[in-house]
Amino acid sequence: MSGLQIRLSEKLNLKAKTAVIIGAQWGDEGKGKIVDVLSDNFSVVARYAGGHNAGHTVIINGKKFILQLVPCGVLRKDCRGVIGNGVVLDPLAFLDEVGRLRDAGVKVDGNLFVSNRAQVILPYHRMIELAAENAPGRVKIGTTSRGIGPAYEDKMGRRGLRVIDLLDAQLLRTHIENACREKNMIGHALFNSEPIDADKMYAEYSRAAEKIAPYVRDTAALLNRAIADGEPVMFEGAQGTMLDIDHGTYPFVTSSSATSGGVATGTGVPPTAISQVIGVTKAYCTRVGGGPFPSEIGDAVGEQLRKRGNEYGAVTGRPRRCGWLDLPLLRYSNMINGSTWLVVTKLDVLDELAEIPVCIGYKINGKKISEIPADAAGFEKIEPTYETLPGWKQSTVGITDFEKLPARARQYLEFLEGASGGARIAMVSTGPEREQTIFMPDFAREILAREKKAGRQAS
Ligand code: GDP
Ligand code: IMO
Ligand code: MG
Repeated sequence: MSGLQIRLSEKLNLKAKTAVIIGAQWGDEGKGKIVDVLSDNFSVVARYAGGHNAGHTVIINGKKFILQLVPCGVLRKDCRGVIGNGVVLDPLAFLDEVGRLRDAGVKVDGNLFVSNRAQVILPYHRMIELAAENAPGRVKIGTTSRGIGPAYEDKMGRRGLRVIDLLDAQLLRTHIENACREKNMIGHALFNSEPIDADKMYAEYSRAAEKIAPYVRDTAALLNRAIADGEPVMFEGAQGTMLDIDHGTYPFVTSSSATSGGVATGTGVPPTAISQVIGVTKAYCTRVGGGPFPSEIGDAVGEQLRKRGNEYGAVTGRPRRCGWLDLPLLRYSNMINGSTWLVVTKLDVLDELAEIPVCIGYKINGKKISEIPADAAGFEKIEPTYETLPGWKQSTVGITDFEKLPARARQYLEFLEGASGGARIAMVSTGPEREQTIFMPDFAREILAREKKAGRQAS
């Protein structure tokens, strides 16, 4: 690896390509920051999964934005944002977020689009989720209480409301009346929940629908046209590989396809149009909510990482559980997502440590295992094997050139890359600000160096 530095604004004239940014761990890897940095070279950024359970933090010149539903790309004037069909959209949360962005001077009108096929989250989804999470005898997942799971249940049960239906007043009224009757009965019978008033809900959501209407598009058509026109399009993952409904630590997962496979179904862009997958991993590991976490650190060192890394949920404020970098999981994530590039974030958080353990393998009953367990019980049996690397005990905050990192920090990154199963380091993040970023030269040539086209006006 060499430290050739490529300026953010430098653009070579390469063929337009698409890129997927995914979380390689349990979410909160710093995807928001990375999408923001890279969006300088993309015309469109699209979300494909999850909802406002996501909290993507972007800090620009000291100003903090936490995006939940809106793709981070909208923070740049010449970048359009798309909320794809795979997202579950809470209309009130969306309008709130758009309002906050507008107040902060961000352009959202005319460059932010919502899929007409996205599913809608309604208040009874939250009611059912809260009741189920707190019901005696249920496995508590530690969700974000946003109604995400029940909304995806209704989608798959073919009884959900889509954005296109939200805009049809008659259909909306009928849907709300029928759904409230059913959900109130279920809520009362199973959890003794307070009933929800359908009339009030209709009044509130029909008003919200009018405000959302200008953003609604056939976003699959929009994205495919942008790609056909040669515009660079980025897909912004939410959550992380280990929270994926199929590939994560089930049942301690979210309810959508957070992995790169979710892009195709969640946007209507075919797999053949996806050219790059970039996995984002912290230099260590965190998880918020319940569920297995093999490399978790319970002692004062965990607390030290939490403090230094400010590891508190962007959405819920909950303290994040902290642990060491887990290489078996990183290799698993690279396999599932097809990531060929890795972005390592929060390197600076390790600056003060004299020694840094890294989980290099798993054993169960003393025997090495090469596959990741499919069940939570299997995860609980894991005995992680660690290799301890020397710390660098020097500040890396804000370093933008790989060669300027302390030698031991470079060794740490090279060790990570060498054990990642073939992926290469693309970028290293040394602080939360845009500029606190190292670009590796090969990546810069391949991904950053692309022409941003003006693009056709979305109709
Ligand atoms: P996301 O959900 O993957 O976008 O990540 P979050 O925004 O939930 O959490 C990442 C947190 O780490 C945010 O508070 C970021 O501002 C912060 N962050 C991102 N990169 C770095 C970094 O390199 N160093 C430090 N110290 N903080 C970072
Ligand atoms: P970003 O995009 C971290 C976790 C919750 C819980 C589980 C299920 O910011 O990385 P849900 O409300 O989705 O049904 O909760 O998933 N979770 C996240 N953890 N980052 C996220 O998003 C998360 N989104 C959901 O804490 O354990
Ligand atoms: Mg987050």
